Amino acid sequence: MSMDALAELESSGLVELSTFTDEAALRAWNTKYFGDKGLMKAALAGIGKVPKEQRAAYGQEANRVKVALESAYATALDAAKEKALLASLNEAPLDATLPGRTRPRGRLHPATQILRDIYRIFGDLGFQIYRSREVESDDLNFEQLNMPPHHPARDMWDTFFTTTPGTILRTHTSPGQIHVMRERCPEPIRVILPGMCYRNEAISTRSEIQFLQVEGLVIGEGVTMADLKGTITAFARRMFGPDRQVRIRSSYFPFTEPSIEVDIDWPKDDPNRDRLTKGTGWLEILGAGMVHPTVLRNGGYDPDKVTGFAFGMGPQRMLMLKHAIDDIRLFWQNDRRFLEQF
Ligand code: DAH
Repeated sequence: MSMDALAELESSGLVELSTFTDEAALRAWNTKYFGDKGLMKAALAGIGKVPKEQRAAYGQEANRVKVALESAYATALDAAKEKALLASLNEAPLDATLPGRTRPRGRLHPATQILRDIYRIFGDLGFQIYRSREVESDDLNFEQLNMPPHHPARDMWDTFFTTTPGTILRTHTSPGQIHVMRERCPEPIRVILPGMCYRNEAISTRSEIQFLQVEGLVIGEGVTMADLKGTITAFARRMFGPDRQVRIRSSYFPFTEPSIEVDIDWPKDDPNRDRLTKGTGWLEILGAGMVHPTVLRNGGYDPDKVTGFAFGMGPQRMLMLKHAIDDIRLFWQNDRRFLEQF
């Protein structure tokens, strides 16, 4: 090997390299020059045959050639890869102006939303939230609420019975009143009890076998009907708007005496007013009353010392009013077209 041979190796290597543009050919070139039996290796090994006084210069030159070829190879390989990439992009053109894919956004079920509104409003009024069981005893669902067996008022609630005698699915949240009273007696009480209720009814646009209620219970010394009216009015105005009027009608529930039903006036400028209020302008939102002395006693309280009021409302009914939903069955069908509107 001589210096001339090195120069020849460099120039032929570079010329050959410049004729290849695809990766496979370049890699073959690399094997030819830098493989185990490659030309460059041979040139480096050839240093032993170079006369002693020329060895240093030869070694330096061989190294320079090696680095020059290596870097030319790396540059050519990068260019070839880039060219291949561009070619593949042209085959399946990329439109950088296409809008991105929208990600589906999670949201709260409308029933959860209105429950949270109710919690917030009563929370502001100093109420605590109390959870009570859905599988209930006949005793608490009816008897402790002043409805002994065969009491005609039981007809108001079509009941799901279980195979365990005396165990039913609660038909309303009112039995929770007894649970709280027995737990808190003799302390004063100010709670709401939200939860699912079950009634054995024919399913229609207006009735479901499974629905939400929110019960309210306040017990203490000197609690009066005026407190009930004030609480309901404050709630109705926060829920439905500051100008709402509240109307109280007398009613009957076995667990309250006196019992009332509460209506709110519906905005005059709402085109749905007549349909929603059946032409009266008033809309029922809940049942309520002063807790019956028998019920107070069943909860452990002395009706001569304390009084209380209770109410029960249907959040789904309120939602239907708020959003003009005309079919209660939509709530638990999990139809995304319905749910995504909230
Ligand atoms: N539990 C009754 C129902 O389901 C609603 C109700 C009325 C609850 C009056 C009360 C009340 O607490 O005082 O129809």
